[in-house]
Amino acid sequence: MKTKLLLAVVLFCLAGQATAIGVKGDAAAGKQKATACAACHGADGNKTLDNSYPKLAGQYPDYLLKTLREYKSGKRVNAVMAAQVQALSEADMANLAVYYGSLKGQMGVVK
Ligand code: HEC
Repeated sequence: MKTKLLLAVVLFCLAGQATAIGVKGDAAAGKQKATACAACHGADGNKTLDNSYPKLAGQYPDYLLKTLREYKSGKRVNAVMAAQVQALSEADMANLAVYYGSLKGQMGVVK
């Protein structure tokens, strides 16, 4: 019983790590690019312009990268974000995803 529990804990930790290292990117480079995003998503990825702008801080990098790719390809349709991602390379998007994923997300009541 104890062995099974230990195994479950180990697998759980490994799964968590896999998520964290799923996207290869440079958080420092992402931070530099993020100045363009701060106006709407907040300098820290938390204090957004208003409640219609999603918080990015603490989001899974995998999700952020997938989303940015989808804005770029047109799979996810939003005029504002489509314009934002056009000039971004795949590396830029990965860096931004890792950067925002590295920030601490703040939960809170809707303003
Ligand atoms: C002019 C305002 C504005 C700027 C600047 C901006 N965004 Fe956005 N962003 C939005 C809006 C509005 C949405 C919600 C769009 C939707 O509903 O799909 C959004 C959504 C997103 C999402 C999806 C979040 C989710 O939870 O699904 C990501 C990721 C994102 N933005 C990243 C960025 C990055 C990275 C930059 C800088 C390169 C950036 N945004 C710049 C307005 C902006």
